[in-house]
Amino acid sequence: MPSLNDIRSTYLDFFKRNGHEAVASSPLVPRNDPTLMFTNSGMVQFKNRFTGVEKGDYQRATSSQKCVRAGGKHNDLDNVGYTARHHTFFEMLGNFSFGDYFKSEAIPFAWELLTKDFGIPKDKLLVTVYHTDDEAADLWKKVAGLTDDRIIRIPTDDNFWRMGPTGPCGPCTEIFYDHGDHIWGGPPGSAEEDGDRFIEIWNLVFMQYEQFEDGSMRDLDMQSIDTGMGLERIGALLQGKHDNYDTDLMRALIEASAHATSSDPDGPGKVHHRVIADHLRSTSFLLADGVMPSNEGRGYVLRRIMRRAMRHVHMLGAQDPVMHKLVPALVRQMGAAYPELGRAQSMIEESLLSEETRFRKTLDRGLRLLDDELGKLPEGADLPGEAAFKLYDTYGFPLDLTQDALREQGRNVDTAGFDAAMAEQKAQARAAWAGSGETKDAAIWFELGEKHGATEFLGYDTESAEGQVLSLVRDGAAIEVAKEGEAVQVVVNQTPFYAESGGQVGDVGTIQTESGMVRVSDTKKSGGVFIHIGEVTMGQITRGQAAKLEVDHSNRSNIRANHSATHLLHEALRRALGDHVAQRGSLNAHDRLRFDFSHNKALTAEEIAQVEGEVNEFIRQNSPVDTRIMTPDDARAIGAQALFGEKYGDEVRVVSMGKLNGSGKGSDKQTYSLELCGGTHVARTGDIGMFALTTETASAAGIRRIEALTGQAAMAELRRVDRELSEIAGILKAQAGDVVGKVKALSDERKTLANEVAQLKRQLAMGGGGASEAKDIAGVKFIGRKVEGVSGKDLGALVDEMKSQLGSGAVLVLAESDGKATVAAGVTNDLTEKLSAVSLVQAATAALGGKGGGGRPDRAQGGAPSLNAADAAFEAAEAVIGAA
Ligand code: ALA
Repeated sequence: MPSLNDIRSTYLDFFKRNGHEAVASSPLVPRNDPTLMFTNSGMVQFKNRFTGVEKGDYQRATSSQKCVRAGGKHNDLDNVGYTARHHTFFEMLGNFSFGDYFKSEAIPFAWELLTKDFGIPKDKLLVTVYHTDDEAADLWKKVAGLTDDRIIRIPTDDNFWRMGPTGPCGPCTEIFYDHGDHIWGGPPGSAEEDGDRFIEIWNLVFMQYEQFEDGSMRDLDMQSIDTGMGLERIGALLQGKHDNYDTDLMRALIEASAHATSSDPDGPGKVHHRVIADHLRSTSFLLADGVMPSNEGRGYVLRRIMRRAMRHVHMLGAQDPVMHKLVPALVRQMGAAYPELGRAQSMIEESLLSEETRFRKTLDRGLRLLDDELGKLPEGADLPGEAAFKLYDTYGFPLDLTQDALREQGRNVDTAGFDAAMAEQKAQARAAWAGSGETKDAAIWFELGEKHGATEFLGYDTESAEGQVLSLVRDGAAIEVAKEGEAVQVVVNQTPFYAESGGQVGDVGTIQTESGMVRVSDTKKSGGVFIHIGEVTMGQITRGQAAKLEVDHSNRSNIRANHSATHLLHEALRRALGDHVAQRGSLNAHDRLRFDFSHNKALTAEEIAQVEGEVNEFIRQNSPVDTRIMTPDDARAIGAQALFGEKYGDEVRVVSMGKLNGSGKGSDKQTYSLELCGGTHVARTGDIGMFALTTETASAAGIRRIEALTGQAAMAELRRVDRELSEIAGILKAQAGDVVGKVKALSDERKTLANEVAQLKRQLAMGGGGASEAKDIAGVKFIGRKVEGVSGKDLGALVDEMKSQLGSGAVLVLAESDGKATVAAGVTNDLTEKLSAVSLVQAATAALGGKGGGGRPDRAQGGAPSLNAADAAFEAAEAVIGAA
């Protein structure tokens, strides 16, 4: 009997043999569809290939696609566990042609695979075609030899496949298996078609049209093929089972559930095991694809499925969390086909354990409340909405969990009452907010938050995605259209743009719609609403449009490198300086990083070298950077660094990097850095490239600040410093290696010279050594001095110096340098009323046989033929003083 894994391989091998490229399943969160909650069929990843928007290297593809049908348009959640063929998670096998082959090959491929490779008896098969599709009907006759009664024409949408309100579509043909007349049911199109006798196993869609929002359609340029076959169904058939949950793969999960809860897989808890097996698959695959449990959007669908499973675990009487114990069985079954599952195994286990631990705290009390409420009600009456709301609000019971619990008793919830209670709570929140004195700008974001819910952030996994423009805002008011050149703030339902928080700057990039483009220069958030701030650079953008959001890739890579380097820096500082080092602020921009931390003195050169070296060591280690989701308490328990005073939500991301040999944090002994962080990070530490610490300064009392660069910017900085060094070496005429010695020698020499100059100046002031005593001439102190080697331009300073030595009096200096004689005189300010330096210079010059000289009353200067008659010059000056 072939296993489900065998059947998947047989399918893919068959199409590979027939020229198809085997393409990996795309993630459960679609990157290319703004409206789809989860990937729900194989063609989702190829949507743009069918419409011709994208081209590819291959024209034929085959895949086994992970699909989730819960919470969106296709929602199977309510029926899971109770029916033979409903799942929240399933695998869709498909083959695709993009403008290559069409009906005349697709039908023979399907027939050959089913009847030859899978060996299904021909007389067990029948088909439906769209009522006008004669071509398909003829082909079935010709290729498969089916008679008219086994080619059923269906005039409804059942045989016209659409992916949604928009997108590629076309008529389809469905292949059915007849389980035989021992099972009740009629062929498709008949009154008994809902019975279990005729089961649809494969849908071949002839993609021919594109549908638009207004309901109109256009012919696609090329005709394509999209097919979908649920692995679980074909598996059941080929394993001779009537129930998908009896296939080997599902059975292994059910038995794991039975084992973990010590209960009988087929006993009274049968439904519980089926729900658990199904929900284990959807929750694990969603977690592996980056969805985190939360209270909004996709995260809430995940939480709902998790908690639903956990109630069923509880119903089996388990006293401790169970779901996480089943993950190894799932990885054993599906890890080979979906390697992402194995890679994420520990994260999945931790997330399930944390959610179950938390939910168990309220689950018991909630179920007791539910029992009490039901006890008050008449037989079969609906549970009042108020009670369901209380279970939701206080005990964390998603509405569908309560409905699921009631189903076992054949009761319902008064959902209108539930909605009313929810609306009432929102109104109260609004009233409280309105009274909180927020600004007008904040008002619009509060309103949009209420209207649209939180923006879903896809940017941990992707840098481009499609979203829907939910609102456009300018100056605190909603607008319909923004035109070229206008500033605008854009709100979408989902985005890859990171909004500024936790020190990481907002992303930049572009938002493109079919009519225009917005250049996004920053992204911020208000509550859960992401605000893309930008300007329309082309055409116009209108509310409601689908948009392609593209983050500037190299900008984001640099931000990631800087953010991851900050984590390594933080840890290196703690190790170098001590446990008192705590983050006090940070900036992770595209061109630099800044990190403020508590420490009360400057780092020594050795400490800086140690820190820089250690960060680079872990960069070179190139180990993977891991992200896990857990409660803040669990995160602290394993030793994660949390920001002091920061408020954390229910769930936190824990980012770990760097591998150690047993000297790591808390219980995570192998891990170097472990931090609570919502930011984006490199995949491996090697992606940081390199780390250069540029400055270390004081930022505030007891807080130091480090600035640093990574990757290309670090390289450029080191190059710049190197160039400067070469330039200095050039000036010094030295080799780069000798620059330090040379500069030190120059600096020493400069010191020696400076000392000598000072000394010389002093000697000069002393008049070359033999200072003459000041004379008293009629009550005025006078110094007359002759100096050698002092040029005329330095005399002024000397005269001033002598004046200040005298305090009050007059000086006359006769100087000779390079054969030139100069006469300078000075009179202190207290005496200039009666005695002028100019008259002193003129008298002395005349005595020397010259003429002239001038200046101000306090300082004057003039030239002389020689200093031969120096004594006569001094006497002439004394005479002037005496006469004053
Ligand atoms: N896309 C088609 C389906 O989901 C094959 O049925």
